[in-house]
Amino acid sequence: MAKSTMDQDLLRVLYSEEQIRTRVQELGDELFEAFRDKNPLFVGVLKGCFLFMADLVRACQIKSEVEFIAVSSYGNGYESSGNVQITRDLQYDITGRDLIVVEDILDSGNTLYFLAQYFKTKGARSVTIVTLLDKPERREKPIKADYIGFTAPNEFVVGYGLDFKQQYRNVPYIGVMKPEIYENDD
Ligand code: PRP
Repeated sequence: MAKSTMDQDLLRVLYSEEQIRTRVQELGDELFEAFRDKNPLFVGVLKGCFLFMADLVRACQIKSEVEFIAVSSYGNGYESSGNVQITRDLQYDITGRDLIVVEDILDSGNTLYFLAQYFKTKGARSVTIVTLLDKPERREKPIKADYIGFTAPNEFVVGYGLDFKQQYRNVPYIGVMKPEIYENDD
């Protein structure tokens, strides 16, 4: 396999492919036990969730459905604007459904605080939040995840779905970016 041209922009590996695989399977097992009789609807929050969602639903062999919603609050920057906009809405009626909302990262909380309320107003019976990474130090809104892959340090991370200016999502592990990459950016 050709060598990655992205590794050189990363300071270190924070969570390896192996660590991620193991943790995702554990989460899948826990969700299986919690939702085995509920026919849940997995709702992935695009785009960051796409790899985690794909792995999580396969790690949780439960009869369920899959849906996506896309929101934007960061633009191309790396600080949340706090202004969450839906850029691709749900296509299903979620009235009375048990939702498992799948996120790559819970940071300021702006996105999930908004979405949890949105799903409730759309009639969801329950909203369970699963996030691969949680950065509790960064929280601005009163929101907690029900299932957390890793509690991450307050560093700029990319890979496994997480981006910097839409790039690095395809790095197969989660790594810390070299500060000079984003600090020198306009
Ligand atoms: C990222 C991430 C979460 C959100 C978390 O999305 O995927 O949805 O930020 O941050 P918050 O807790 O501060 O709201 P982003 O808006 O960067 O879009 P993306 O998923 O397309 O990368």
